[in-house]
Amino acid sequence: MTESMVAIDDLRVAYGSVTVLDGVSLSVPHGRTLGVVGESGSGKSTLAKVLVGVATPTSGRVEVDGTDLSRVHRGREMYAHRRRVQMIPQDPYSSLSPRRTIGQTLAEAISPRGGRVTRFEERIARELERVGLSGDMMHRFPHEFSGGQRQRVAIARSLIIDPAFVIADEITSALDVSVQAQILELLAAIKAEQNLTMMFISHNLAVVQRVSDDVAVMHRGRIVEAGPVEQVYTDPQHWYTRRLLEADPGSPGFRLVA
Ligand SMILES: Nc1ncnc2c1ncn2[C@@H]1O[C@H](COP(=O)(O)OP(=O)(O)O)[C@@H](O)[C@H]1O
Ligand SMILES: [Mg+2]
Repeated sequence: MTESMVAIDDLRVAYGSVTVLDGVSLSVPHGRTLGVVGESGSGKSTLAKVLVGVATPTSGRVEVDGTDLSRVHRGREMYAHRRRVQMIPQDPYSSLSPRRTIGQTLAEAISPRGGRVTRFEERIARELERVGLSGDMMHRFPHEFSGGQRQRVAIARSLIIDPAFVIADEITSALDVSVQAQILELLAAIKAEQNLTMMFISHNLAVVQRVSDDVAVMHRGRIVEAGPVEQVYTDPQHWYTRRLLEADPGSPGFRLVA
């Protein structure tokens, strides 16, 4: 199990009598991106929350970067865990503080106890350039940016501390279709360049396909099918996967692997 960045074995999460994750097992090898696809309510975000440490498993084993999450209890350990596992926020409007410059937000990500922009100026500029913005934008405020630009800043904030594992949960659903495509392209490029290990969650199959190496299909708290994206998309084995694929071709930008 320790060879993978993430290894989950028979994970169950229940809220009272409602089972939300029902025996999920999966692994994410180093340097790969696992797409998680499934309709709303299937348990995708709950899975993300378990990995970040904000939802607690009812049973099962969850290992991230060699650490068994059931052993991560205390404040300092959890703090360290949450820096190593970064979640890119879904909504680029609410996720950035309107009163801080982009530079202040990024400095705080690097050093939460009073990171000063001047101290990290070079690093912040480099990170902004990596996500397709310019370094001098660090002096601006979020309201001066478009939704797509804000999402780039949010990505920069998640990546600037070199996390071991990145989770993107529906990060393009709040964006226009054309902007969605740009953000997906950016992530794919960063991934290739940086050997990022990532879980990329979306209800949209086409979106998942752009960024993922492997895909897990979730249905009612279970993974009904998993494998390399090309294989699952061209030769789906489970009826639910087939149904999702049949429902999706009309969606903008859908591209079934030939
Ligand atoms: N804290 C919670 N308490 C009770 N039910 C929850 C909680 N979080 C999620 N759920 C339920 O779990 C199911 C899966 O939710 P979620 O993981 O957000 O799915 P998805 O991200 O795939 O849309 C939903 O039916 C949701 O209502
Ligand atoms: Mg969700």
